[in-house]
Amino acid sequence: MLKNKNILLGVCGSIAAYKSASLTRLLVKAGANVKVVMTKDAASFITPLTLATLSKNPVQIEYFKPDTGEWNNHVESGLWADLMIIAPASANTLAKLAAGICDNLLTAIYLSARCPVFYAPAMDLDMWKHPATQSNVSKLNEYGNIILSPAFGELASGLIGEGRMAEPETIVDFLKTWLGEGQPLRGKKALVTAGPTYESIDPVRFIGNHSSGKMGFAIAEELARLGAAVTLITGPVSVKLSDNSIQRIDVTSADDMLTAVQQNFSGSDITVMSAAIADYKVENPAGIKIKKASPELNLQLTKTTDILATIGKEKKNGQLLIGFALETNNEEEYAVQKLRSKNLDFIVLNSMNDKGAGFKGDTNKITIIDRQLNKEHFELKSKTEVAADICRKIVDLV
Ligand code: CTP
Repeated sequence: MLKNKNILLGVCGSIAAYKSASLTRLLVKAGANVKVVMTKDAASFITPLTLATLSKNPVQIEYFKPDTGEWNNHVESGLWADLMIIAPASANTLAKLAAGICDNLLTAIYLSARCPVFYAPAMDLDMWKHPATQSNVSKLNEYGNIILSPAFGELASGLIGEGRMAEPETIVDFLKTWLGEGQPLRGKKALVTAGPTYESIDPVRFIGNHSSGKMGFAIAEELARLGAAVTLITGPVSVKLSDNSIQRIDVTSADDMLTAVQQNFSGSDITVMSAAIADYKVENPAGIKIKKASPELNLQLTKTTDILATIGKEKKNGQLLIGFALETNNEEEYAVQKLRSKNLDFIVLNSMNDKGAGFKGDTNKITIIDRQLNKEHFELKSKTEVAADICRKIVDLV
């Protein structure tokens, strides 16, 4: 899949720049034509000579080549590339890309590139978690760039957490899958929500629900397997992702989830809202722990925003929107009402009356109802198999 592809590899100043050598080697071995562009700081971590030798092409660093008097044409480089991969992408470069700053050759080429752009963040865990970095990542995702999510593990600082650059082998596998045939959702971006939300009562207590997140995680993994670039927004859960290519955004409350969904929805081709989002939140959560002094405690609740209905109103042609309904009675009637009122392409209905369906367990039993009111009833299955059924319907509609 990578054979004869023109790949521009952008390398930023990060200790993970040493991995760029293996990445270059693997890409060249897979038959790609690789050209490397580095920032000046990257050249302090790994020598241009190493990357020039491995890529079999001169490495570009500066706009202007003082020795020959020529300049490195960023527009030409941007147009030459079939794919641009920025790996490692430092916090500083991510911020520049998000803001459209082009004060070096790499960032200028990024702005000129018409091809898909992938980026592999690499930084210390606190830099990665910082809201400024997360907001830059959301911006890049909105621009349609595809994240190669950082991995969890020991970092150069000695701290342990998320922030390690994805391994070169993982990046190459991801690219092959993304380019690969038999991947009907290749080139599509998907957004999935999962898990419960927690609504604060005071600093130690919350209102929540029993959602485990397993259904949403299974859908996210299946969409990624089918080639989509997946962003997963999840409430507090203990399940883990096995697919490193999925970008995971952790949130707590319904309001947090609303913000995260709104930041990611406009660039998404397929959105699956499987999260069990609270319909009500505590109007004025206490700032300090509530003591059990009085015999009664009354909490005033106010409605949260219906996220699905909100994005249903913003949905454009070509965007698919899928919702869930968990009902105890008049199941199909309520599901159809939700399908219509929230402007969905189809709804996945679970009935609490079906044993093994709904929250917590490893199985589910669903009915899919689409806009034409076609109804497909499925047997009780594992959540992985249910995810495959839901994604088959998505592929049909795509
Ligand atoms: N949902 C949402 N925002 C909320 C609540 C729910 O986006 N604040 C989404 C869920 O992710 C799910 C669908 O809406 O896809 C569920 O529909 P909803 O009408 O909220 O179901 P219930 O909460 O069960 O509502 P009702 O009590 O009216 O049946």
